[in-house]
Amino acid sequence: KEGYREVTICSNREIATDIYEMKIKETGILGVPGQFYMLRGWQGLDPFLPRPISICDISDDEITFLYEIRGKGTGIMAGLKAMDRIEILGPLGNGFELNSKGNIAIISGGIGIAPMIYTMKSIDSPIDFYCGFRDEVYYIDEIKKYVNNIYITTEDGSVGHKGFITELFVPDRYDMVMTCGPIPMMKKVVEMCKDKVPVFISMESRMACGIGACLGCSIETTWGMKRVCKDGPVFSGEEVIF
Ligand code: FAD
Ligand code: FES
Repeated sequence: KEGYREVTICSNREIATDIYEMKIKETGILGVPGQFYMLRGWQGLDPFLPRPISICDISDDEITFLYEIRGKGTGIMAGLKAMDRIEILGPLGNGFELNSKGNIAIISGGIGIAPMIYTMKSIDSPIDFYCGFRDEVYYIDEIKKYVNNIYITTEDGSVGHKGFITELFVPDRYDMVMTCGPIPMMKKVVEMCKDKVPVFISMESRMACGIGACLGCSIETTWGMKRVCKDGPVFSGEEVIF
């Protein structure tokens, strides 16, 4: 628990089925786009480990997290109310490369949209945003003002193009690509970008310490095993061995 501090929740609301937006009160060193925090919204030892959640957005005195209920930890977090306290550790990990010039494509799948809002706000270049969802679409209104074009797909065709987001993406149009979402989607994006355009991916992995000490989050790369929490979560697409 070393390094963790208790902060106050300003709001925690369901914005789509099982998708929550949590705002916490926090000032000071807040982090750069692509970084994450470890969150523990419960007392006691079950669940034992805190959960990693990306920075979704930051203002002068608030951090926004966007998360999906996947299991016990995120389920407990969803039950928290304004004025409840939560323990956090962060900001952790590296961030996205933000200084690239030219046209940028950002591609997200599902809750992979979470780290992209703060990322978009921090980029000066023109951005096309490609976002894929299973069925329900969320957070698009928050994003519209930061991008030139927005392409939406749903697997059931209820909004936008019916199918996967990689069906709409044309790598040749871009000078840099960033992506976050399910591994099969990111793998496909990396394959599509190969020898055409640099791509950066935000990797997911189960985490324990979040600070590089336990090696529990290691993934295979062309440089050997790398820790998602310390060497990532953002990696060059070329270096990750899927
Ligand atoms: P558990 O009971 O631990 O697991 C439920 C199910 O989800 C299991 O099937 C399990 O295998 C799977 N699962 C759990 N953790 C992961 C994981 N890390 N990767 C893949 N599958 C997993 N989620 C968000 O909703 N919003 C975010 O902004 C966000 N940012 C993240 C940033 C980083 C750097 C990482 C590593 C993960 C991030 N995640 C994010 C994923 C989030 O940490 C997990 O969904 C969460 O830990 C699940 O905890 P749980 O107790 O609810 O589920
Ligand atoms: Fe412990 Fe990454 S979670 S090294």
